[in-house]
Parts: sequence; structure tokens; C-alpha cells
Amino acid sequence: MRAGGGDRARCEVRGKPIRQSWSSKSKIELPVVVLACSFFFLAGFYGSSLLAQDVSGAGARARALESVGDERDYVPLPRGETGDDSFVSIPFQVLSWGPRALYFPNFATAEQCQSIIKVAKTGLKPSTLALRKGETAENTKGIRTSSGMFVSASEDKTGTLDIIEEKIARVTMLPREHGEAFNVLRYEIGQRYNSHYDAFSPVEYGPQKSQRVASFLLYLSDVEEGGETVFPFENGINMDGTYDFQQCVGLKVKPRQGDGLLFYSLLPNGTIDPTSLHGSCPVIKGEKWVATKWIRDQVQDD
Ligand SMILES: *[C@@H]1O[C@H](CO)[C@@H](O)[C@H](O)[C@H]1NC(C)=O
Repeated sequence: MRAGGGDRARCEVRGKPIRQSWSSKSKIELPVVVLACSFFFLAGFYGSSLLAQDVSGAGARARALESVGDERDYVPLPRGETGDDSFVSIPFQVLSWGPRALYFPNFATAEQCQSIIKVAKTGLKPSTLALRKGETAENTKGIRTSSGMFVSASEDKTGTLDIIEEKIARVTMLPREHGEAFNVLRYEIGQRYNSHYDAFSPVEYGPQKSQRVASFLLYLSDVEEGGETVFPFENGINMDGTYDFQQCVGLKVKPRQGDGLLFYSLLPNGTIDPTSLHGSCPVIKGEKWVATKWIRDQVQDD
């Protein structure tokens, strides 16, 4: 409120601006305005806490963060050469800080998902593993039983993967050039991927030219039962050395067509986040289709 404005007062009630206008002839004293503002503020404040079910903990914290965005209408700033002209709103939920995992509801449309499945169906092959010392295709059988196909955005002539890749780059702020080609996977009943890391520990895999920083999973289908992405070590649980890598325990994310899941395999200091261990629980009913984008610390030339 501009003190000298005279004919217009503005008071904020629960983040929503309320404008009151009156003729400058009807002189209303400042203290009256302050009182009125205080009354509405307090009424709104107590009213909302009475109505709210959960005024403590994560729920209240999330609302407090949200309210910051609602208080006024923002105007875009002049952009840089590579920036955007307007605001973009892509909803997400922080699922965890250990690992750093985000859920993006309705990241892609049903049509986009179906289009990606159609492209991948043309070249499905049994998925393979990066092998550690002493491992062979034979003695690792059963760890990863899905079928899949690598397909880059430019190979998808429908243009769908191009749109999705651009959107993933936006939400991660990791440039598209750092992504591997999409790995589109199909899991049929009983098929699974035991818990593993997407990053390659040099101790186990030898020196690495580049490292996977983050993984973005786009669920292309609903799964009737099973097929969850599971983080067994979420927030340090199950890390006492007794965990069996086939077990589906911990934080589970149920696949839903169009939803995205992003998690970081590396900590801010560049070391592998031990809690980024994850797997795909066996599909019990239905079929699971997922497009995976692994994003690296170096530009990829695929
Ligand atoms: C990296 O960060 C983690 C978590 O803060 C810490 O435990 C670890 O010791 C750090 N490693 C190095 C090499 O800085």
C-alpha cells in the first residue's frame, strides 16, 4: 500500500490481494484501514487453520511453499538468448531426498505413450546388463528379464520422443546432449529387474569415461498389479547388509501411464548416492512399458 496514495488501499488476506476502492472524498483514516486489514488477515488465518486437517508436518510445509507462488501475478523478465518468454508450470512431488527423487504426474499424454510403444515394438530384444568382473550373460540370467530397444529422439519419426526429451531437459536442467538414447522396456508377467545402481562404480566396473548422473523413467502403460519401481535403501533403510536384491521392499512407485519419475544417482559432490539403489518389481498382472532416459555428466555422441 502506498501511504500517500489516498484513494486506494490494498490488504493481503491469505495471499490473495483484495482491492478496496472508494472515493477520495470519503476520508477513511489510516488506523481504520490497518484495523480492517488486520481483522481480515486474522479471520483468514484462524479460519484456515480450523478448516485444515493437518496443520503440522509435511502437509503444512508444502502449503507454505506453495503459497509463495500465489501471492501476485508474475511478469516474465527479459530473457537470455536461450531462455523462455513465459512461465512454465510442470507439477512435481518430491518423493524423497535420499535418493533425490521426483514424481511428475501426467508428464506425457496417453497418445504420446502409445506412439512410443508402437515405435519400440518394432525392435524389442532381451535386455542386457553391464557386466562386472567375473559376471557372464549366463551367471546373471534372471537379474534383468525385460525386453527393450534403444531409440534416439531423432529415430522416432513421429516426433514424440523429441518433445519428451526436450521436456526432460527442462525439468532436469541437464542439456539434451547429455542423455543416452531412450531405452524403451517391456516387462511381461513375472519379469523384473533386481535392485541395482544406474551409475557405474569404478571399483566394480573399472575406470569410466563418463558417469550417469540422473535417470528419468516415463511410464508408458498402467500395470494392473506389480511392476513398481522400488528404492530399497530410501532414507537409509535396509542398509544393514542383509538386503536380498530380489526383494521388493522400500519406497515403491506404482507405474501409471504418462507419469514420470526422476532420480539422481550422483550426490552433489559427484560420488554415487548409495540410496539410489532401485529395481523393478515383478509384474504380477498386466504388462509394464517404460521409457528410460539416462543422463550423463559428459556429452553423448549417439
Ligand atoms: C560426498 O558427499 C557425501 C554425502 O554428503 C559424503 O558422505 C561423502 O563423504 C562425500 N565424498 C567426497 C569424496 O567428498
